[in-house]
Amino acid sequence: MRTATSGRRTMIGVSLAAGACAGLGVLIAAAPSADESAAATAPSNPYAFTEDGELRRPQDYRTWIYMGSPLTPNDMNNGSAAFPEFHNVYLDPDSYEQYKQTGEFRDGAIIMKELVSVGTKSSFSGKGYFQGEFLGVEAMIKSEDRFPDEPGNWGFFRFTDEKAAAEGRLGSLRTVASVNATASCSACHTAAAHDYVFTQHYPVLRAARNAKRNPEND
Ligand code: HEC
Repeated sequence: MRTATSGRRTMIGVSLAAGACAGLGVLIAAAPSADESAAATAPSNPYAFTEDGELRRPQDYRTWIYMGSPLTPNDMNNGSAAFPEFHNVYLDPDSYEQYKQTGEFRDGAIIMKELVSVGTKSSFSGKGYFQGEFLGVEAMIKSEDRFPDEPGNWGFFRFTDEKAAAEGRLGSLRTVASVNATASCSACHTAAAHDYVFTQHYPVLRAARNAKRNPEND
C-alpha cells in the first residue's frame, strides 16, 4: 500500500514537472549527473557540417564573446575600401576560455564576422561612423581534422548571398557554405598578429591571452 502511494506520488510529481514552467526546468538542469558535468566542461563546438562537408550557418553567435568591430570606411580609403563595412566579430565561448588558459586558439575554434553597413555619420555625440544595416556573415574554423592542408588549419566560409545582394536584397544569407579557396581568404590573413587572427585589432583578446582569469575584473 505504501509503495503504491509513493509510486502514485512520483507519477504526479513527474507529470507536474513535465507540465511545469521553464523555472522548474532550470532547477532540474541545475543538478546534472557526474557524466553531464564532465560533458559540460569539455569544449563544445557550436556549429555543424552537412554530410557533404558544408558548414551550416551557425546560430546564436551574438551570444558569444564579442571581440570588436574593425572598420575601414570608404572615405578614409580614396572612396573604395576593400571592406567598407563594419565587421562585428565574435569568438565561441569555449575558445575564449582556452585562450585565457593556454594563449592559443584551440582546435575547433570558430570566429564569426558579421558585416554591417556604415549608416549615419552623425549622432548627438558628434560626427562619426555608426552602424547601419546587416549585409553578410563570414566564418573561420580551426580544425586539423577537416582542414589539414590549410594554413594554421583554418577553413574560411562566406554565407553572404552575393546574387541576392546584386538584386538589391542586401543581408540575404545562405544556410550552408563550402570552404573558400585558400588564396581568396587566408592568404591575406598571414598578416594577422596571432595564428591568422588579427588580434592586433582586438584588445579583448590581447587582454585575455594567457590571463588565466577574466581580465575585465582586474
Ligand atoms: C584583403 C585581405 C583580406 C582578405 C582577402 C580576407 N580577409 Fe578576413 N580580415 C582581414 C583583416 C585585415 C581583418 C581584420 C580587420 C577587419 O576586419 O577589417 C579580417 C578579419 C576577418 C575575420 C575576423 C577575425 C580576424 O582575423 O580578425 C574573419 C572571420 C574573416 N576576416 C574572414 C574572412 C573570409 C571568410 C575571407 C574570404 C571570403 C576573408 N576574411 C578574406 C583581411 C582579409
